[in-house]
Amino acid sequence: MIAGKDPRLLVRSQEPFNAEPPREVLRHSFITPVPLFFVRNHGAVPAVDPGAYRVSVGGLVRRAASYRPDELRARFGDVTVVATLQCAGNRRQELMAVRPIEGEIPWDAQAIGTAEWTGVRLRDVLEDAGIAAPAAHVAFLGLDAIEHGGRTEKFGGSIPLAKALGAEILVAHAMNGRPLTPIHGSPLRVVVPGYIGARSVKWLEAITVRADPSENYFQAHSYKLFPPEVTPDIVDWATGVMLGEVGINAVICRPLDGETVRAGAVTCMGYALSGRHEVARVELSIDEGATWTPAALKGPSERWAWRFWETSLALPPGRHELIVRARDTAGGSQPENPALIWNFKGYMNAARHRIGVRAA
Ligand code: MTE
Repeated sequence: MIAGKDPRLLVRSQEPFNAEPPREVLRHSFITPVPLFFVRNHGAVPAVDPGAYRVSVGGLVRRAASYRPDELRARFGDVTVVATLQCAGNRRQELMAVRPIEGEIPWDAQAIGTAEWTGVRLRDVLEDAGIAAPAAHVAFLGLDAIEHGGRTEKFGGSIPLAKALGAEILVAHAMNGRPLTPIHGSPLRVVVPGYIGARSVKWLEAITVRADPSENYFQAHSYKLFPPEVTPDIVDWATGVMLGEVGINAVICRPLDGETVRAGAVTCMGYALSGRHEVARVELSIDEGATWTPAALKGPSERWAWRFWETSLALPPGRHELIVRARDTAGGSQPENPALIWNFKGYMNAARHRIGVRAA
């Protein structure tokens, strides 16, 4: 196991290292301990020379700059934001059960975690550099080199300028009060709360203000959403929707799928999140959606973090399917089943989560 990571992690690939915690431990703490925090890497963790490391700020700015991490912190000051990071591929396994998905990591529902991120506000860095017309996007580039289709490219992506100016976007150096570990992007990473994890670029080398979205492979090609009828052999990559904001989602963490529970009052708990709005309501059904039992939203309520929820269901002896559905404060709801949103890359599964249990 990677230094500092918990041996209970479910390792999805060793090289590059990709892993998620087991479902039953994810719900233990609102802030995910770093050893249990999922890891999503497209390539090897780059070797960073701490003495030479700098991050550059350039593109459509009046004063291009470059900073050592200590200079950045001294100039702009630290803030801390509690934010959930969720991979666009979270819950891909359920999509794979609908139809096969080739060449992608079979994430269960734990490619997600919440941390206290500390760093400087991206907007302070950008405003200091002087944003110049026709700026509309901010691109990030990491130091890790990834091979695809016979060429090697560093990992990158971009977010709209309006999002980049949000107070929640950080150039972070610490996670849960400790310096970032190499696998989570040290010395500096971007944290874009409310967006797919891919935009939170690790091992940050460059911030570039642009008129258009990044042309990096992981923005212009990968991390695009297609409708269920599009398959890899007929895909026109230019027509895919570039992913950004994360919608409403909810997952049952306890009981576990396939578990035998004692008949009677059964405690059910899980997480829900919305990158756009707030989680307004979580409900469970054991009768295929004919009736719904509301769950209580529990624990801390942080604008950019998941909500924990809990309820008790009366389960008579026998087999049951538990379904969870959530709504956000803008009335957004979840698709009824994953077949409706199947896509050949396996992104953004926010269908109602279902698990099977036996009460005895
Ligand atoms: N940044 C770089 N440089 N390289 C990467 O492979 N993966 C992205 C993002 N930032 C990645 C990256 C993806 S897809 C996700 S979901 C998050 O990092 C995962 O962050 P974590 O490994 O700290 O959990």
